[in-house]
Amino acid sequence: MKQFPKKLQDKLNQRATINALRKLDTQSNLVDFTSNDYLGFSKSKHIFNQAHQSLINTNAINNGATGSRLLSGNHPLYGTTERLLSEFHDSESALLFNSGYDANLGLLAAIPQKGDYIFYDAYSHASIRDGILLSHAKAYKFEHNNLDDLQQKIKRLNLTNSNLDTAIYIVTESVFSMDGDSPNLIKLSHFCAKNNYHLLVDEAHAIGVFGNGKGLVQELNIQDQLFARLITFGKALGAHGAAVLGSKLLKQYLINFSRPLIYTTALPPHSLSTINSAYKELKQTSALKTLQNNIEFFKLELKKHQLNSYFIESNSAIHSCLIPGNNAVKAIAQKLKSKGIDVKAILAPTVPRGQERLRFCLHSYNSEAEITKVLTWLATFVEK
Ligand SMILES: Cc1ncc(COP(=O)(O)O)c(C=O)c1O
Repeated sequence: MKQFPKKLQDKLNQRATINALRKLDTQSNLVDFTSNDYLGFSKSKHIFNQAHQSLINTNAINNGATGSRLLSGNHPLYGTTERLLSEFHDSESALLFNSGYDANLGLLAAIPQKGDYIFYDAYSHASIRDGILLSHAKAYKFEHNNLDDLQQKIKRLNLTNSNLDTAIYIVTESVFSMDGDSPNLIKLSHFCAKNNYHLLVDEAHAIGVFGNGKGLVQELNIQDQLFARLITFGKALGAHGAAVLGSKLLKQYLINFSRPLIYTTALPPHSLSTINSAYKELKQTSALKTLQNNIEFFKLELKKHQLNSYFIESNSAIHSCLIPGNNAVKAIAQKLKSKGIDVKAILAPTVPRGQERLRFCLHSYNSEAEITKVLTWLATFVEK
């Protein structure tokens, strides 16, 4: 057998040295403070049955999509789903992608052109950064949620009227996946509108949580000021896939130039049917309210257990407890596991060294007793 290349073995060894070797655990039956299934939709029998029945009723008996959307894969359900999405999300158009990762890659690699500039929040998701790496535009990161820093960095470019052809794209998330916090989107969108910059907002963790499920952008009613929004269905919608929301021209452009859309087999009809059923549920579920109650309750319990100073301030379903050091944070996650609770340790290099954390994801189906239990144990495990 061929030897595994030494450089790769060295990288694995280095990960092991810092106690950050990743491995695939199977799903557990522990109390869930880890998954992105904020509303419990992934386990909803109702959504499952409705999606299935609708496929049977419309004789959509397809196991796979059979090709790219540009060839044989564009099942009629694509049109139905994209209409539903643009209506629900108050957008001129919607374009489905196979996942949020693909959508960010497809958007950022295709849109900013050579000579353009991208400014992205330093805490942007890997899919945003990977898309930017594929782009031919110059990219700069700005300090996390820091509009002043963004303004300074743009100023340094010294753009004059002769650069009128140059487009500037600003990229951020409405809820950051590791910190659970949000930028001041009102200020940011006004700043972009005033200067004719193109604002792109990833709403992966805001859909199903804010704005009656519509996301933070719609809660703030700034959807008309954005160049593009990214929504995903693998989190609160409990399904799979993603969409880019924006103008009809943007959609047309992506259909022509976005490689992660063009050169891949499309999502199968049953994925689309599940997205449709999940949206039907989202329009009428009480889980939105229960999730909000749980977020409030969690925050009250943090205070009660004097844990506030460990946590990053957040109003979302994601609450991160900073416990520096891979060994330290892993040890506490392990102790919680032994109490029947699943909270994941997020290690360096996924987050910067010194910012290792326990990332709590809250759900509509967590009981108040579970929240009290996990924070009571946490308070005894962290050093005060
Ligand atoms: C902010 C953000 N954007 C995009 C993605 C990717 O979405 P998906 O899981 O659908 O590929 C994620 C998922 O972790 C995310 O947190």
